[in-house]
Amino acid sequence: MATWTSGYVSEISYTQGFYRELTPAVLGFVALSKGVSARKAEAPLAYCELGCGQGFSANVLAAANPHVSFHATDFNPTHVAGARALAAAAGSSNIRFYDDAFADFLARDDLPDFDIVSLHGIWSWISAENRRVIVEFIRRRLKVGGLVYLSYNALPGWASGMPLRRLLVDHAAVATGSIEKRIDAALAFSERIRSANSVYFRVNPGVGERLDRMKASSRNYLAHEHLNRDWEPFYHADVAAELDEAKLSFVGSTALLDHVDAVSLTQEHRDVLADVPAPALRETVRDFLVNQQFRRDVFQKGPIALNALDLQDAWADQRFALSIRREDAVMHVDGAGGRMGLIAEVYAPILDAFASGPRTIRQIAADAAIAGLGWARLRQAITVLVGTDQLQPCLGEAGESARAERTRAFNRAVVLRARASADLGCLASPVTGSGVAVDRFGQLFILAEIEGEADPAQFAASILEAQGQRVVKDGRRLENPAEHLAEFRAQYEAFQTRRRPVLTALGVV
Ligand SMILES: C[S@@+](CC[C@H](N)C(=O)[O-])C[C@H]1O[C@@H](n2cnc3c(N)ncnc32)[C@H](O)[C@@H]1O
Repeated sequence: MATWTSGYVSEISYTQGFYRELTPAVLGFVALSKGVSARKAEAPLAYCELGCGQGFSANVLAAANPHVSFHATDFNPTHVAGARALAAAAGSSNIRFYDDAFADFLARDDLPDFDIVSLHGIWSWISAENRRVIVEFIRRRLKVGGLVYLSYNALPGWASGMPLRRLLVDHAAVATGSIEKRIDAALAFSERIRSANSVYFRVNPGVGERLDRMKASSRNYLAHEHLNRDWEPFYHADVAAELDEAKLSFVGSTALLDHVDAVSLTQEHRDVLADVPAPALRETVRDFLVNQQFRRDVFQKGPIALNALDLQDAWADQRFALSIRREDAVMHVDGAGGRMGLIAEVYAPILDAFASGPRTIRQIAADAAIAGLGWARLRQAITVLVGTDQLQPCLGEAGESARAERTRAFNRAVVLRARASADLGCLASPVTGSGVAVDRFGQLFILAEIEGEADPAQFAASILEAQGQRVVKDGRRLENPAEHLAEFRAQYEAFQTRRRPVLTALGVV
């Protein structure tokens, strides 16, 4: 094992995920939804990501927010080398990647003070000492009014799964071969225990499902998620207590549906919570009610509650865009009490208003049907649409063309990589200041367009064929070239009709 890792997995790289929660406009919307003041996402913010992994999220965000200065560190030099290469290919000059461990990053004297510090998938996977370093970093470097996004494995949701994780770690430690082989062996061994009618599996039925999910996950993900020396799920109250040392207060979750109790809790749950006065205990009790497994918390240094007028103005100025076609809108939400329909009289006019492109709340409220809903219902409906990933908070219109220049360059760098792999699953939007999922096929079709190819389906099919790759459909590899091309033609048509309108509205193509 390398000496710089503090027991953290380094022999296999992490996955290249994009996490929308890290987006400045999303964090700003969390603050708005909770009624607290925060610096606008359009301001020249300084943003820091601790433990950025392969840096794909930071790279997407830097391209889509050229007015923000990004600083991201990860002590794995392979991760940082890849992240820097993508930033260079995209011509992003507002992002710096560091290969510093948290303690070395804390010691630097060349960093600005930050408006946002984010850590996704870090807190539960590092030592208590590293957590203290991070709290000290936030204490010293986060501006007053600044936001912190932090995710972690939560209790009680992980309680029954902890022994399974332990079994995997202990078995992987004595197995031989590459880390992938050791993970495979540990999973197979856990399966044997389940099949031997283990009482642990029997009395904890959720554990079997967890094992099934693990078996279906990528080995890179499992290695980083479970095989580190340090791994600890937390109660929210304990995290809040640690962050209190940096003068942070809890604001809310980036899981926006959690802001709407009528959806995320049953009436019985709400009755219990109504009797819990202390905010930190309330969050923990909430986690018991829903058996929370993973939390995505936003904290702030010095939150100020907006008065009713300022709050209304801030909502009115906030711009949103649909990230689905209007006709694909899902008119239900899966809440704590099961599936709930979204009332057409409330949601249809709102969805219709956004169907013709990004709008502010002030603009859509010019429609009498929407104004007639009243602020409370309108705000709740918007929050539900954001929480169900159908509507995205956006940056203001000013500066959009400058942003589009940067996202074009970044997206070009990403789609060029799609020739060789499907690793990068999203492109940058100058409208949302965030990422938008586009799979490898979609990316190759966009590349064909950039390169002026007359037949995008043929272009994409031949790129795969030249590398000996074939689409696998219904479990069958499409070896026949005509059949392979036909599949690409079908995919292209679907892309043009279903995906392109959304990507156009979001300024991606
Ligand atoms: C589970 S991954 C999450 C990566 C990224 N935030 C994401 O969600 O895609 C944790 C990352 O933290 C990095 N890391 C762990 N301990 C660290 C430390 N002490 N200093 C800097 N980076 C560290 C690892 O190299 C790894 O890339």
